[in-house]
Amino acid sequence: MIRLFLMLLLALALILFVVAFVVTRIENAQDAANHVLRNHALKHDDLKHHSASEKPRNVAVVVFSRSGNTGVLADHIAETLDADVHELVANDYQLGMVGWINALSDARNDFADITPNHIDVSRYDTVYLGSPIWLYSPAPPIWQFANNTDFTNKHVVLVNTFNSQFKQHFIDEFEALVRSKGAISFAHQYVKRGRMGSQMSSQELIQRFDEKYNTKRINDRAGERDEQQ
Ligand SMILES: Cc1cc2nc3c(=O)[nH]c(=O)nc-3n(C[C@H](O)[C@H](O)[C@H](O)COP(=O)(O)O)c2cc1C
Repeated sequence: MIRLFLMLLLALALILFVVAFVVTRIENAQDAANHVLRNHALKHDDLKHHSASEKPRNVAVVVFSRSGNTGVLADHIAETLDADVHELVANDYQLGMVGWINALSDARNDFADITPNHIDVSRYDTVYLGSPIWLYSPAPPIWQFANNTDFTNKHVVLVNTFNSQFKQHFIDEFEALVRSKGAISFAHQYVKRGRMGSQMSSQELIQRFDEKYNTKRINDRAGERDEQQ
């Protein structure tokens, strides 16, 4: 009996290891491809930054992205809206097996170790918050950022990328949080990338986002809820 139990335990550990190995390999490949796109976008942004016609930007895009997909989308939104990009880094959730297991075990937390821990958004009118979905909820780093931030009189747009599904009640809780921090409006924008192994490319992700949203205005959530199912 004990032998059977141990064999079952070993089989489960083996399955978890194989899943983690395959998933993290796919994530590494995606991150490498996204890195190239993001470097290009940053160079472009640097050029814009130093142009003579520069004026203060009133939109910020704050993003946490583990494997670069939400990051590519955040860069695209920033380029479209001429916004500043602020990247949140969470060392606990770096690419690789350890980061993946940490991400899975912390997925529903509303706190995380992030750098920077605080960003002053007082000079912006609109703040986009980009994050992947982890276990149906926005990832902990973006909750941590929202917890830390004064959104008084800001329009807040939560932007998520995910594979297949999120749960609306987590989004409602996120909205309640940013409104409790002073936000005067909240919108949720998202792109479903498809299941692991048959996901859309980063270019298709951007295209899909543009088809769904006119980024020049703040959308409401009407008509969007059915797509995730
Ligand atoms: C720990 C973990 C949990 C995840 N949970 C979900 C989930 O519940 N629903 C979903 O559709 N995708 C889920 N995903 C997939 C990510 O949301 C998706 O790949 C996302 O686009 C990754 O964005 P990034 O490249 O910016 O990190 C999960 C990914 C990880 C690492």
